[in-house]
Amino acid sequence: MGSGAREHALVWKCVQSELVERVYCAPGNGGTGGMARNIPIGAADVVRIVDFAKRERLGLIVLGPEAAVDAGVGDALRHAGFNVFGPDRGAGRIESSKSFAKALMKRAGIPTADFEVFTQPAPAKAWARERGGRVAVKADGLARGKGVIVCADIEQSDGAIEAMLVQERFGRSGKKIVVEERLEGPELSLLAVTDGADVIPLAPARDYKRAHEGNKGANTGGMGAYSPPKGVDDALVKEVVDCVMRPAVQELAGSGDEFRGVLYAGLMLTEQGVRALEFNARFGDPEAQVVLPRLESDFVAMALAAAKGGLAAHPDLRWSPRACVGVVVASGHYPDDVAMTLGHRIGGLTEMPPGALIFHAGTRYEPGIGLVTDGGRVVTSVALGETVAQARDVALAGARQVRFEGAFFRSDIAQEAE
Ligand code: AMP
Ligand code: GLY
Repeated sequence: MGSGAREHALVWKCVQSELVERVYCAPGNGGTGGMARNIPIGAADVVRIVDFAKRERLGLIVLGPEAAVDAGVGDALRHAGFNVFGPDRGAGRIESSKSFAKALMKRAGIPTADFEVFTQPAPAKAWARERGGRVAVKADGLARGKGVIVCADIEQSDGAIEAMLVQERFGRSGKKIVVEERLEGPELSLLAVTDGADVIPLAPARDYKRAHEGNKGANTGGMGAYSPPKGVDDALVKEVVDCVMRPAVQELAGSGDEFRGVLYAGLMLTEQGVRALEFNARFGDPEAQVVLPRLESDFVAMALAAAKGGLAAHPDLRWSPRACVGVVVASGHYPDDVAMTLGHRIGGLTEMPPGALIFHAGTRYEPGIGLVTDGGRVVTSVALGETVAQARDVALAGARQVRFEGAFFRSDIAQEAE
């Protein structure tokens, strides 16, 4: 379920499985339609997806976006007896409520930034002022990756708090906020598959959240990613599994919210050690686009095992030693004013350099015209390579081929690893 490049990558991986006869994508995009059957059901349309699952007797449903988790698609499908890879709404609060996630981290002893939860501007501003305004201000609810304002001084923290609690610029999502100490360091995305008891880490990745080169500009859903990231070894992955992932999964299970699916930890590698910034209850986008191509094991077998609660007996995952780089090509004003850049014809996709994979996101087929833009992030250009540098060259060459009005991408994705 879903319609981004993450879901295109998931569909691409699912059709490779020997267990699979047919794949549907709800609602899908211009890319998933070429390898699966797109069905016009929104990813959060609980009633229609349950009907469809019954009619087609689906063997497995994979939840792509947080909107599906938060709508309770997992609950409804599981209740009807289906295998679902993706958590129920209750467990999904680890993403959909930052205050829930922070409280859980505190209870489970997971290392994270000091924080406080506020609904009133005056005490929030005072808390930020005590830290010289060097805080991150976060809307409690879902905000499509854009609900965090990282502040450098009191003017900025006052402004961020006002924007959320007074001007209500994040709507209901920002009526409650988390204010936390600002941390410094490189970031790491670690995703793990879990059935609520066992935890199997996927290959680590690094996401580029800012819109423009040199990590400038607004926070976005992610402008590119690569795997494995520089400076991240097996020992660090193990530390994150032991100190962050397992405690989170156990804490959820202990309070009756068993988590089945992918748990995503957004981490910062500070001088004082690893800190968890946030959790997501699903694959990352664009992390999925660079992690799944490196996975040599059958994704569907693993997802079924997690959905059924049998991960303990699942064989170890096999990973390609090759590196993977993904570069998002976005339209004009992304992450702002996306509506202004919809419906432009997309060219160049048939002239990709050898080795470049294109995962579609905001694309759709317009009868009589062809492929047109249909969202802020339009495609992710992905390549595997013997080294990060090789993968990066091909992914960038692919991104340059993609042509539509206002197209832009970051040419510094994964550059740090060269
Ligand atoms: P989140 O949605 O919580 O991952 O936040 C989005 C982005 O904001 C993260 O990837 C970081 O780049 C940044 N961020 C979040 N929390 C902090 C923090 N405590 N200190 C510094 N940057 C942060
Ligand atoms: N790439 C960040 C996310 O998927 O939330």
